[in-house]
Amino acid sequence: MAMPDPVSSTPIEAAVPVARLHEILESISDAFYALDAEGRVTYVNARALQLWNRRAADLLGRPFTDVFPQVKGHPLEHALIRAGATRTAQHLEAVSPLLNRWVATAVYPSASGGVSVYFRDIDQRRRDEMALRDLAGRLEERVAERTAELAAANARLRAEIEERTRAEVALRQAQKMEAIGQLTGGIAHDFNNRLQAIAGALQLLRRRLSRADVAEADVFAKAALAEVERAAALIRRLLAFGRQRPMQAERVEVNALIGAMMDLVRRSVGAGVRVETELAEGLWPVECDANQLENALLNLCINARDAMPEGGRLVIATANATLTDEPVQDGTVCGDFVAVRVADSGIGMPPEVRARVFDPFFTTKPPERGTGLGLAMLYGFVRQAGGHVRIDSGAGTGTTVTLWLPRAG
Ligand SMILES: Nc1ncnc2c1ncn2[C@@H]1O[C@H](COP(=O)(O)OP(=O)(O)OP(=O)(O)O)[C@@H](O)[C@H]1O
Ligand SMILES: [Mg+2]
Repeated sequence: MAMPDPVSSTPIEAAVPVARLHEILESISDAFYALDAEGRVTYVNARALQLWNRRAADLLGRPFTDVFPQVKGHPLEHALIRAGATRTAQHLEAVSPLLNRWVATAVYPSASGGVSVYFRDIDQRRRDEMALRDLAGRLEERVAERTAELAAANARLRAEIEERTRAEVALRQAQKMEAIGQLTGGIAHDFNNRLQAIAGALQLLRRRLSRADVAEADVFAKAALAEVERAAALIRRLLAFGRQRPMQAERVEVNALIGAMMDLVRRSVGAGVRVETELAEGLWPVECDANQLENALLNLCINARDAMPEGGRLVIATANATLTDEPVQDGTVCGDFVAVRVADSGIGMPPEVRARVFDPFFTTKPPERGTGLGLAMLYGFVRQAGGHVRIDSGAGTGTTVTLWLPRAG
């Protein structure tokens, strides 16, 4: 390779021998060339010749833009001119018109008025950068796509939830209608029986009256009135369930109330069931609606009877109870209560029945036998009275229902 003219003098040249400078410029991996003030090539290193695929003799002494006319109008030409004119270094990253690859170029003004130019092939780096930018762009696209997919899935889920809520509301409505239907059927049946009995008694009453048989007429009038009273009781029960009737709290002696009910209980459960009472002496009074307590106890006795189709034993017991963390239907309880226990030796309840007995209209009995309101009403009454309830029962082990009513002050 022809040795070019030395680069115009700089302070470095003063300190470093020219031969050493050549050696350095020939061995560096950057391409290097120098132009004089007229733009003629005064030096070009081996790396530049290699990249351009030219020989030094083709270039030296010739105007750069004559050798490489494709530089004209290119940012590289502007950088060369500007560095010369402004005496400031120019840096450029562009696709080289000579190599058709990305090249980083640094143009430094030299003291002679020319320029020294370093350049380096950065094509691979730029391609990598662009690929990376492209990847980042695609990644953003993918993220946007996934976000859109997720939003769509979310919207579908929300629509499904709404649909399910609508279905649940419809189901609840259907269940309510079924329950109301059951209730209405039960009441109609019960009420019809009462009306039949009243009508029968009144007809007999008329016949006796026409025969002026006053003594017998009185019996039928009494029977009709009793039926009217039963029908009214049924209505009271329904009103109480609908919470239409406020609780009429009064001081109640539970033992006396039970004592007065025993005839009715014995008649209701029938001869097959042995009825026993264990009423504690010195029982504290309680404050509650006596009528509702009576109804609640009667329902418990009738439930017990229904659970003992082959007969059995029914125990009604009372006791004063000072509770400390006693487990009840909904938690645990402390304080002074009067406990009323109704226990039977019947079929008991499997867990799935036990779990639902306080639900209004839950019954395992045929429609004409039960409306499923008994224990629901009992629960409402007990809670209204400030008391608690617990059922101990298992399939085949009999059932004990305990009510705790707060001790009256
Ligand atoms: N002592 C018991 N032994 C076994 N199962 C019982 C007992 N008491 C209640 N049950 C069950 O609990 C259900 C609900 O009782 P609840 O008293 O609330 O309604 P019902 O007796 O079916 O109808 P209603 O009392 O309105 O005439 C009963 O149908 C029965 O399955
Ligand atoms: Mg019942």
